[in-house]
Amino acid sequence: MEIKKVVVIGSGTMGSGIAAHLCNANVPVTLLDLTTEISEKARDRIHKSRPPLLIDKSKINNINVGNINDDFDVVKDADWIVEAVVERIDIKHNIYEKIFESRKLGAIVSSNTSSIPIKILSEKLNDDQKKDFCITHFFNPVRYMGLLEIVKNENNDLDKINSLKKFCEIELGKGAIICNDTPGFLGNRVGVYAMQVAMTEAFKMKLSIEEADAIFGRPMGIPKTGVFGLYDLIGIDLMADVLKSFIKELPQTDPFHIVAKEIPLVKKLIDTGYTGKKGKGGFYRMNKSDNQKFLEAINLVSGEYSKVKKIDLGIESVDLKNLIKRKDKYGEYAWSVISKIIKYASSLVPGITEKFNDIDEAMRLGFNWEMGPFEMLKEIGVENFFNRVDEYKNNNFLINLSNSKNENFYGERQLYTEIETLGKIKPKAIKLDKNKSAEIYRFNDFNIVEFTTKANALDYDSMDSLKNATDKPLIIINESMQFSAGVNLTYTMNFADKGDFKSIEKFLKHFQETCSHLKYSKYPVVSAPSGLTLGGGFEILVQSNFVTSHTNIVIGLVETIVGLVPAGGGCKEMLWRWSQTEEAKNDPDYAPLKVFDIIGYAKTATSPVEAEVLKYLMPKDKKIMNRNSLLSVSKKILQDNINFKIPEECKFNLSGNSLKEKMIKILEKLYNENVIMDHGMEVGKELANVLSGGDTTINKTLSEDDLYKLELESFMRLMENKKTQDRIKHTLATGKPLVN
Ligand code: NAI
Repeated sequence: MEIKKVVVIGSGTMGSGIAAHLCNANVPVTLLDLTTEISEKARDRIHKSRPPLLIDKSKINNINVGNINDDFDVVKDADWIVEAVVERIDIKHNIYEKIFESRKLGAIVSSNTSSIPIKILSEKLNDDQKKDFCITHFFNPVRYMGLLEIVKNENNDLDKINSLKKFCEIELGKGAIICNDTPGFLGNRVGVYAMQVAMTEAFKMKLSIEEADAIFGRPMGIPKTGVFGLYDLIGIDLMADVLKSFIKELPQTDPFHIVAKEIPLVKKLIDTGYTGKKGKGGFYRMNKSDNQKFLEAINLVSGEYSKVKKIDLGIESVDLKNLIKRKDKYGEYAWSVISKIIKYASSLVPGITEKFNDIDEAMRLGFNWEMGPFEMLKEIGVENFFNRVDEYKNNNFLINLSNSKNENFYGERQLYTEIETLGKIKPKAIKLDKNKSAEIYRFNDFNIVEFTTKANALDYDSMDSLKNATDKPLIIINESMQFSAGVNLTYTMNFADKGDFKSIEKFLKHFQETCSHLKYSKYPVVSAPSGLTLGGGFEILVQSNFVTSHTNIVIGLVETIVGLVPAGGGCKEMLWRWSQTEEAKNDPDYAPLKVFDIIGYAKTATSPVEAEVLKYLMPKDKKIMNRNSLLSVSKKILQDNINFKIPEECKFNLSGNSLKEKMIKILEKLYNENVIMDHGMEVGKELANVLSGGDTTINKTLSEDDLYKLELESFMRLMENKKTQDRIKHTLATGKPLVN
């Protein structure tokens, strides 16, 4: 079965997301809605979406639009028809009747429903029609969320379901998990329960919403939006509808009912238009006084808002064992929430899936958790868990585990896919070394470095690991969401605050030496990025010999935003890349001016296609839709390069002063137009100094080391600049850069 043409019916949030993502996979789609105007608007929304749903904006031409009355004939040619209309069974049934009258025999028909059982969706279909009908439940935003739940019915042609799964996995890059026909399937059943537990326990234990979000967040390996932040993001009213549907579908004995009871404060928020980010605000809201905007949080007891309080738990990374051991209310809350989630998820095995492992994967891919409930149990330790947990009657999974006390109950990960993923090979690999920022694994005849800090920010230890791992071919790859958000600014600011600039310089030299080492070591180095690949993270990538990039990346040199210049070889490598162009052959200033523009504006790309335009990625770099495949593709590169030759060193001829003056003219124009201010001017001048080659002439040849030196000197001058330090402090405190 080949899927060459798709029709998506319903062009709302999900229909347009699915259509956009099919375009990303180069599959032509027709998007139908009640009127062509609605689907045209949807296409326009896709084009303008931020973060972009399209990998390449020009792909919008792959989407045709129309309406279900005049254009329904397109269904005749489609290999797959996806229904993504409103969650109303009568409307869905009508659509299926129409589709099955028109579709070509054998074409797949699927629904994106999030809550209607397939039994009910397909009740009016005959057995032949049922063969080709299933649920394909994508998550929002479709391009970025890894999970796709596929729900079969008892009549399905299994070969067809398997080939649809393969298509969604390989072409669309989704973690496609086959699930049973149970309410909320896997992800939402456990994910919504977890949110409800986190919320009700916060009310019960009288925690503030900031406290609850600080715990039910990064320390538990859950995105930092926490529970109340996530509620606001999804929409408090929408969550109420979701709960109603679960209450209707689940038997009274299901513990879900205990946590799904209506909460008066939540009802009041909905009734008064405080439905979350899309409304007047929600649990959090923005307020303004004296022309200053600030974030406020609601008090769960009084319902009053006050300025958000930052909660410092003193925990930097995921650490369940210590979190639940704490003797304070935070430890109590964490244990109460985690143990309830583990108890609930395990009570659903084998009802909602025989493979408990699939529940973890659904939480990872659909909710961006680092660990699912069963991995949490493994992390806490079976014995520890049973020493503390209260009753778990009727829970066969836990009863069996308490009898066996098998600490190694977990087995292999990611059973839903046949691809050899990082998650699968890590337990089989030898852990060679570990420091507080990275881990080195040896698998067969190559090494793997995985960063382990928050957003994989880089410091001295990260560099140590990279350097130590080059005694074999090396793949730099991570399971967590980001490849690396760049150098750890807190780490550098700690030195700056003490006036210890020598230590910053030492770190930078180590950074440069490591990057040079990656580029010129005897064995090939592959970087396999996904997510943020910024600043120092990009500098590691650009000085690796090969790149296997996920299509969901945000890549670029963003140092100027905090008042710095790239100093790990970023300027040097970008100069080299642009100097290899045809234009550069005729104009020696072409490349430096181009790079001045890119780095000066801290330009980023949100996909490999955009990245190639800026030369952050090159045509030879591999671009992969399925994140799970990053490791196997990287491994294949190593196998294909057994006779790897160390690359030749780059040489540079730069114009020096005359070029620097051209760049300063550009800066002066921006300054006069108020685009940049005094500090921007200082940063721009340092960047100009590096990219023009410093004190040089076009006839003098500069080495890579000369450029590293220029980068280092400029970086250090800027680092010692009080305005840069203020800028960094502001960014660290607010998570946002200072404008101007
Ligand atoms: P939406 O309300 O954004 O869009 C629904 C679209 O269907 C609208 O454009 C509407 O004009 C159109 N429509 C209504 N009746 C129609 C008909 N007879 N023929 C053609 N189009 C018709 O809804 P959304 O959020 O995109 O949801 C669609 C489906 O996806 C639902 O079944 C929902 O449960 C499911 N879902 C939603 C998720 C979300 O986060 N919004 C996540 C996963 C699944």
